[in-house]
Amino acid sequence: MKITPIRGTHDFFGQQVLKYRAIQDLISHYSRIYNFEEIITPIFESTDLFKKPLGENSDVVLKEMYTFKDKNEDLITLRPEYTTPMIRAAISNNLLEKLPKKLYGIGPMFRRERPQKGRYRQFNQINFEILGTHDVSSDIELIILANSFLQNLLPDKKINLFINSLGDKDTLSKFSSALSKYFREKKEKLSEESQNKIISNPIRILDSKDPMDVEINLNAPKISDFYSNEANEKFSNIQKILKDMSIDFSINKNLVRGLDYYCHTVFEFKTLDLGSQDTLIGGGRYDGLTKLLGGPDIPGVGWAGGIERLIMLMDDIKSLQKKIHLIIINESFREYGLKVANQLRKENINIHFDYKYNLKKSLSYANQLGVRYAIIIGEEEVQKNICTLKDLNSNVQEKKTIENIIKDLS
Ligand code: HAM
Repeated sequence: MKITPIRGTHDFFGQQVLKYRAIQDLISHYSRIYNFEEIITPIFESTDLFKKPLGENSDVVLKEMYTFKDKNEDLITLRPEYTTPMIRAAISNNLLEKLPKKLYGIGPMFRRERPQKGRYRQFNQINFEILGTHDVSSDIELIILANSFLQNLLPDKKINLFINSLGDKDTLSKFSSALSKYFREKKEKLSEESQNKIISNPIRILDSKDPMDVEINLNAPKISDFYSNEANEKFSNIQKILKDMSIDFSINKNLVRGLDYYCHTVFEFKTLDLGSQDTLIGGGRYDGLTKLLGGPDIPGVGWAGGIERLIMLMDDIKSLQKKIHLIIINESFREYGLKVANQLRKENINIHFDYKYNLKKSLSYANQLGVRYAIIIGEEEVQKNICTLKDLNSNVQEKKTIENIIKDLS
């Protein structure tokens, strides 16, 4: 019986695991210097947590959620994103007494999308959220955090930051009606998928990559015509400070994001190196969300990044630690070999104990693995309580005491 992986899932091994861990390490560094606390929540939640907050007409809720009935008929969903579960957890555990609350989390998310390069059905996200402040400094700090994290992780990659403002709820409802009206008049020219969104979710048509829709979107009403004075001022402030801080960005008036909970600032960091799944980090402000989830009426802002997409852009990680291939030329010296291995590992030296007990085969295997050093143990080494250290690059070898080997390798 051969069991294949489920479509849209993948295993991490070798370099991918090293890269995943490097991302985790960098994230914990940023969480410390920006003072975020980690939170870990269950991977499944009540379906209600996602339905309304993400938008009953959003693609995620309509098509992509892994939802099933538990034995007692409760509807359960594998989390498709982390913002709502993190807020739910903050409410459930009374974490919102002292504000702002700054939380971060890393873990798997699940969306039943059509799998392709950079798009999976189980994928991993990094999330940073600030709950409880309207101050634009929080939007800016989060953008700077994302920018600095990406520059640090991917120093040679060109990554572009796009920002937009969705204004407040009033802006959004007026804009949505104006868009519906505009798209109704152009209905025949829109793609079939967009035609279905004219009434239910016209804002999402602006996100379409279909060439027919892109053309029509060019002349669609602009959200900036519907901003309140406050929204206008907030957005101008953010642009000014980002410019002053030399953060490069472009305004994309059609940037609307795929989830319903956003208002005011929205942003995305995109790469040209990944094809169509090009967004590395996306986020924005969600001022009414905590109240909608049954918590206090406090604002929030945050972002999420896709770990798989970041891994695809990272260079291979070279192990800095010297790896030693331990070769025992005959089984009768096994015990001495195990003792040597033990002594070296106590000094944190990485030992690969070779079970072949055959010098030629072991050396050829070590060369295949690209290992730099081998320790060879034969009769003379056992009798004199020493080892032979061989540099596989230069083929120079020397007999040494274990203490001297430790000195050389530390
Ligand atoms: P999102 O734009 O849906 O936002 O996802 C954020 C990031 O997750 C994307 O930019 C992408 O890198 C990654 N991602 C999404 N779907 C997939 C997939 N199927 N396969 C691989 N990677 C994927 C959110 O999830 C919001 N909760 C972000 C947020 C946090 N907004 C405020 N706070």
